[in-house]
Amino acid sequence: MLRFRLMTAADLPFVMGLKRQAGWNQTEADLRRLLRLEPRGCFVAEWEAKPAGTVTTCVLGEVGWIAMVLVDEPLRGRGVGTALLEHALDYLERRRVATVRLDATAWGQPLYTRLGFVGEYEVVRYGGTPRCPAPGAPLVPYTPDLLPDLIALDRQVTGTDRRKLLAALFTEFPGPTCVVKEADAVTGYLSGRPGENAAQIGPGVAVSETAGRLLLGHALFCAVGPVFVDVPRANAAATDLVTSAGLVAQRTFLRMYRGRPVRDDPTALWASSGPEKG
Ligand SMILES: CC(C)(COP(=O)(O)OP(=O)(O)OC[C@H]1O[C@@H](n2cnc3c(N)ncnc32)[C@H](O)[C@@H]1OP(=O)(O)O)[C@@H](O)C(=O)NCCC(=O)NCCS
Repeated sequence: MLRFRLMTAADLPFVMGLKRQAGWNQTEADLRRLLRLEPRGCFVAEWEAKPAGTVTTCVLGEVGWIAMVLVDEPLRGRGVGTALLEHALDYLERRRVATVRLDATAWGQPLYTRLGFVGEYEVVRYGGTPRCPAPGAPLVPYTPDLLPDLIALDRQVTGTDRRKLLAALFTEFPGPTCVVKEADAVTGYLSGRPGENAAQIGPGVAVSETAGRLLLGHALFCAVGPVFVDVPRANAAATDLVTSAGLVAQRTFLRMYRGRPVRDDPTALWASSGPEKG
């Protein structure tokens, strides 16, 4: 028998086990952040009273993101994944979001298509230890007074009010967060955080190629070991920069949505946040 309950911090060892089974990069800090951002919207499915699978949601303005869709390998193919998705969609419907979005792996795509999700664009995960020259101009380090400008710029590019996510990430990781100003206006920012298999570069947006190249170039130059960066295929300049630095495509996600389409600009998205929040 299948039942659902809220995910809590006590479930983190189980979630980390499933995520390692799938070879994903999230750390326990990433999972704790997901729980903090949406404490009533992260769920565990139990099959015959034992934890079998997980799903998380994150409501950002009018958009609800779904992530961490994982089912324990021996229990796959009996409807647990589909039921988890339906449970998450019920929650997001109650939260009255206009759009539900997710980044689908090849495993998840058929399931999401059956539930009415439509493909939007591809996001490619690049990985490796970068070799990159120092960028040519200094960057502005993140300080909390910049937050309103960064939220506004991010909204212009992603079509989403991501303030709760950005505030959490910048507070946790002020060090890797950098900003570019051109003619006194903020034209880009890029953040980063540790990952279990490689440091995760992102999220980051830039409305000029100069700003995007400076920010991503700086992050690649500063990397002391392997990194992952998730780049929309449509952003040719970012793709050129990461491949020139020696990073190699590892996997592709298909960004999918259900409901009202979001007007975002993937050519100005230089690094996605990782598959959990776009
Ligand atoms: C993707 C994933 C969550 C699916 O979980 P699942 O529990 O196997 O999903 P379901 O059982 O609902 O559906 C899987 C298949 O089983 C079939 N199925 C569902 N209920 C069934 C049942 N009662 N009997 C037989 N088959 C069934 C479905 O039709 C589906 O068929 P498909 O392979 O043609 O798509 C799981 O494969 C997984 O954890 N993968 C690794 C992590 C990952 O990639 N997650 C997705 C992130 S976007």
